[in-house]
Amino acid sequence: MDHSPLIRAAIEARGNAHAPYSGFPVGAALLCGDGSVFLGCNVENLSFGLTMCAERVAIGAAVAAGKRDFQCLAIAAESDEVPSPCGACRQVLAEFNPELTVFSANLSGKVERFSLEILLPRASTGILNRP
Ligand code: THU
Repeated sequence: MDHSPLIRAAIEARGNAHAPYSGFPVGAALLCGDGSVFLGCNVENLSFGLTMCAERVAIGAAVAAGKRDFQCLAIAAESDEVPSPCGACRQVLAEFNPELTVFSANLSGKVERFSLEILLPRASTGILNRP
């Protein structure tokens, strides 16, 4: 699969980020099984803890539209290394697809591919002790 369109979508979504406190805009694009794509960007708040990460905004948009069959996620930020989803986002992504493929890109063209299984092993066993 050519992941470049999804990465381009994440870069475009990054342009809508509300990140006045960190100065670190992030974009996300979530590809669903039917080919639809949902976008997210980080939405920060003066009460810092209320900040929503780009990944979770994209998931919320998809779920609100009735989509849960997530195939692949792209995230993009301007950083030397590619960005990496925070622990909370990893857990929320795992709720829907623990084997999700994640493409992380910076704006210099560096892209890394991860499996969510690597980013968050044993995602469900810690909470409900599911097998
Ligand atoms: N952030 C994301 O939106 N996604 C990530 O994968 C990493 C971090 C946001 C949260 C906060 O608004 C800013 O980036 C700095 O951490």
